[in-house]
Amino acid sequence: MHNAAFADRGLNWRYLAFEVPPQQLKEAIAGAAAMRFAGLNLTVPHKLLAMELMDELHDSARFWGAVNVIHFEGRTAEGAWRALREFEENPPESVRAVGYNTDADGLANSLKEDLQVELAGARVLLLGAGGAGRAAALKLAAESAAELYLVNRTASKAIALAEEILRKFPAAKVQVGYPAGNVNLVVNATSLGLKSGDELPYDVTRFSLKQAEAVYDVIYRPAETPLLAQASAAGCRTANGLGMLVHQGAKAFEIWTGQAAPLAVMRRAVEQSIYGH
Ligand code: ATR
Repeated sequence: MHNAAFADRGLNWRYLAFEVPPQQLKEAIAGAAAMRFAGLNLTVPHKLLAMELMDELHDSARFWGAVNVIHFEGRTAEGAWRALREFEENPPESVRAVGYNTDADGLANSLKEDLQVELAGARVLLLGAGGAGRAAALKLAAESAAELYLVNRTASKAIALAEEILRKFPAAKVQVGYPAGNVNLVVNATSLGLKSGDELPYDVTRFSLKQAEAVYDVIYRPAETPLLAQASAAGCRTANGLGMLVHQGAKAFEIWTGQAAPLAVMRRAVEQSIYGH
């Protein structure tokens, strides 16, 4: 999606994948800086490890405790830090790595744009309290969701997450368990639905999709999980996690290039790569 975006914007840039052993992440980042890369994306398990390796952390990375985007900046003769793209004629002698996190914004933007959910004031049932579930819950609280219901197979993790949300957002209304009434949104952040034959990620005896207006599944492969199929049948608006992937990438594109991302181009490239059409 990034190469499609670079082409669309006429940028002579390339996005490449490198497999790096975690024990050499530090050298890999230093090497990319030495080669004057514009930036990097990181994925599991590097997102957490990179927190210790950045010269500077953007608030987004500090808040989420994970780095998925690195932006390299060079020092000007006056001592200010600027994006490397601003140094065309005289490359900087000194470069630093700044860590960002665009995953949570990616989810929020996808919920707003792909599912037309107004997060402020929303009542939300969130399934899953792992890495993805934790980030989703904190982002929903940060976006002023009115009521959050947290459900997880391991209840202690949902309880710990509810406590963390209340520490960071004392005004939030968070409960562990299913809502009695209707919700504006259900988010699946469990891994249930990835494999064919997986059971549904919620307890059908405690909750009905008829209580939900919209359902989001963080999973994007398969394109339609059993949860999304049932949600469509129940009349809910639905979207899968492809939009989150595209939107986190769009934020990264904007950090690296300083330009607005061509979202439709990026989405088409991702769909072609993942679904083959
Ligand atoms: P990720 O970073 O993708 O969120 P994770 O941290 O391993 O991955 O979290 C996986 C989530 O899926 C967790 O909420 C997990 O529930 P537990 O906390 O109880 O492990 C949930 N999950 C995975 N397999 C599950 C299953 N068979 N039934 C119910 N929940 C499951």
